Amino acid sequence: MAPTLILIGFMGSGKTAVGRRVSSYMGWEFFDVDNLVEHETGMSIEQMFEREGEEAFRRAEELVVLRVLDVAGASNAGTVVSLGGGAVTSKGVRDRLKREPFVVLLDEDIATAFSRARNGKRPLAADEQAFRSLYGRRESLYREAATHVIDTRGKSLKHVADEVAGLTDERNGAA
Ligand code: S3P
Repeated sequence: MAPTLILIGFMGSGKTAVGRRVSSYMGWEFFDVDNLVEHETGMSIEQMFEREGEEAFRRAEELVVLRVLDVAGASNAGTVVSLGGGAVTSKGVRDRLKREPFVVLLDEDIATAFSRARNGKRPLAADEQAFRSLYGRRESLYREAATHVIDTRGKSLKHVADEVAGLTDERNGAA
């Protein structure tokens, strides 16, 4: 069966950039859950938080994650899926991830993550203190959900993407 690589981690940990790179390197499909939610709701995440609230966003996000993982699981091609940073706060997502062999946590230092995430488009990355304390509340969820942890501190995008791609090579006996 073709593997599905699922990237999890906090905002600014590089999930989308790494996912895009790994998928193009492996010739695999790529799904970015944030983009899919925006596409399906016809709103930016920022608008969704503002107009409908975080709860509504989480419900939409969970539905997209469950569906994308089913599609990926049924595909003959390899797939990379980048989850939004808060997807693991939904129990339905956490339960679904337990069936997956490649749930890869990108573990970045919080200062670097904040410097990347504070672009104005992320409702939960407006204030550094709040960002740090949100990370503190979520860290155990990431670690419990992960089957693999990649320490991304100080590493280039290429380096991280090579490590992520190598996980499936090893499992398939190709490394
Ligand atoms: C969020 C992370 C964001 C996005 C939304 C909420 C979070 O995704 O889903 O702004 O709660 O951590 P990224 O992790 O891709 O930035």
